[in-house]
Amino acid sequence: VVREHGVGPVDAATRAALTGKRVLVTAGPTRERIDPVRYLTNRSSGKMGFAIAAAACAAGAEVTLVAGPVNLPTPTGVRRIDVESAAEMLAAVDSAATGLDVFIGAAAVADYRPTTPSPHKIKKTAERIELALERTTDILARVAARADRPFTVGFAAETEDVERYARGKLETKRLDLIAANEVGDSKAFDVDDNALVVLSAEGREEIPHASKIDVARRLVVMIAAHLSKSARKGIA
Ligand code: C5P
Repeated sequence: VVREHGVGPVDAATRAALTGKRVLVTAGPTRERIDPVRYLTNRSSGKMGFAIAAAACAAGAEVTLVAGPVNLPTPTGVRRIDVESAAEMLAAVDSAATGLDVFIGAAAVADYRPTTPSPHKIKKTAERIELALERTTDILARVAARADRPFTVGFAAETEDVERYARGKLETKRLDLIAANEVGDSKAFDVDDNALVVLSAEGREEIPHASKIDVARRLVVMIAAHLSKSARKGIA
């Protein structure tokens, strides 16, 4: 059965590389609690990650999608786990990470969270208050550091110097691929289209500006090609 999900036909090589492969995708923002009614978050809509999950599923992969709070329907055939905070996303990824073939970190995970969330609503009494923040765990780097690491793909959303920062992340997080995009007022976050530069140790490929559905499909084709190349190297 050819599953298409409205993402168009999938070429035979991509399908051959991904059929039956276990793929985990993170998507959307996270919410970090300040008190019971307030939180820190970001502008991620989850559209890119959901489109990637749909495209990988259409190519025959067994896809799990760990989603932060978003307003999107689950792509048909995809197993979805909803989470709220970075800590919950980490726990969901950890519990699904054994035996994975591919991990794609498309979520905009909070880098910092309030150190001590207040158990009650913070009152408007003081003229100034300060919010102490602590670093969250880097989920992507942790997956890439596993002994049984899957083929690991990250994203780098930057407002400037996109490729330089992305290459740095490719190296420090020990990724196989990084998809870099420029973000700004009407770019990438919370819109329906995107453009990517995909970097690996070997080089650089571009995915020109298109709908996130098309960009996701092209990214999945690239991941499949890299995956079959590394499988061939493994055999040699
Ligand atoms: O370092 P930076 O946050 O820019 O890296 C972005 C990439 O790292 C994305 O792929 C994102 O999903 C992932 N990430 C993560 N856990 C974090 C922060 C980022 O998985 N705590």
